[in-house]
Amino acid sequence: MLILGIETTCDETAAAVVERHEDGRAAILANVVLSQIAEHEAFGGVVPEIAARAHVEALDLIIATAMADAGCDFGGLDGVAAAAGPGLIGGVIVGLTTAKAIAMVHEKPLVAVNHLEAHALTARLTDGTPFPYCLFLASGGHTQIVAVRSVGDYMRLGTTRDDAIGEAFDKTAKLLGLGYPGGPRVEQEAARGDRTRFALPRPMIGRYDADFSLSGLKTALRLEAEKIAPLAEQDVADLCASFQLAVVEMMVDRLHQGLRIFRQRFGAPSALVAAGGVAANGAIRNALRDVAVQDQVALVVPPPALCTDNAAMIAWAGAERLAYGLCDGLDTVPRARWPLEQVGKPVVAPSAASVVTAPTAIAAVSTGPLEVAPPVRSDAASSAVV
Ligand code: KG4
Ligand code: ZN
Repeated sequence: MLILGIETTCDETAAAVVERHEDGRAAILANVVLSQIAEHEAFGGVVPEIAARAHVEALDLIIATAMADAGCDFGGLDGVAAAAGPGLIGGVIVGLTTAKAIAMVHEKPLVAVNHLEAHALTARLTDGTPFPYCLFLASGGHTQIVAVRSVGDYMRLGTTRDDAIGEAFDKTAKLLGLGYPGGPRVEQEAARGDRTRFALPRPMIGRYDADFSLSGLKTALRLEAEKIAPLAEQDVADLCASFQLAVVEMMVDRLHQGLRIFRQRFGAPSALVAAGGVAANGAIRNALRDVAVQDQVALVVPPPALCTDNAAMIAWAGAERLAYGLCDGLDTVPRARWPLEQVGKPVVAPSAASVVTAPTAIAAVSTGPLEVAPPVRSDAASSAVV
């Protein structure tokens, strides 16, 4: 099954073509990402109107490039998937409308993908990770520990009570004058800083739930910075290193709790899986390895380029949903908010055993879940790094 994926929910204009084989294996045939960093840099963050306009200007060419890289034409596709939310609504409208147009003209099924579900399923694209697994999703807008039990079946075990981890990295960067995008710049500074210099708080550590809280840490960092202002270069590096260590230590504690809760409710997970832009951070990736060893669970962390926003994950989520026979109508609305738990679940016919082929005609109205055969579950062993 050959799927075109489109991603425009934030500041990356992306298109990809992914192939899903009947046994659940995947191949990325093309993966094109155009970052809008230059457009937003002067403003210190993403400006929604500028982002939407930039998506309009770039998307057609990005899609054409992806199709050319993959060596296929629209007629050869089995479906078109676009991120339909959550995200900045202007950008979501651009991507979803473009996908609808391609689906309509070429009579292909449309899949309106939840961006968070795409992050959640990336480990199956890269490693064929079998369900159920424990997901640590950390992006600019979300920080969650989620039980991923099947396509469309997600249960949140923990979440942030205020800021997302990526947001905290971005705000730290802004406060210290490091600009945008914040996460990679804070990581860069932290690499040459003294992580023990500032005793920043570790919120939530020791609690029996799996929730996060970042706003106290952010405030503590600001107070420390104000105390020693004006900041020398080494001060900035030390603040970044101390901040990153506090985040890592909180994350480790929260993941131990999340895995404990997962085991209590669902038994052993096949893996601890990381996703979202924050999982591109080297210190976070190292700490995840330690958690996996201590908790004796396999670890799957997709390569950094598939942790940050991309369209391969959208195409893959579209393929996983199409394999269940799930597609969406041309009346599907773009959504600024769309919690993972509200993603449509497949209705599986108990006796059916094979994968459905994608419908060749698009539905004129929302079909919702179709009552069709179950998907192939990938039983391939994950190439986990522990
Ligand atoms: O998943 P993503 O690309 O977009 C969203 O869906 O939000 O995540 C973006 C977030 C940003 O907050 C960014 O600062 C953070 O991920 N991020 C990082 C790193 N690379 C991206 N945070 C820490 N260290 C990094 N290397
Ligand atoms: Zn994302």
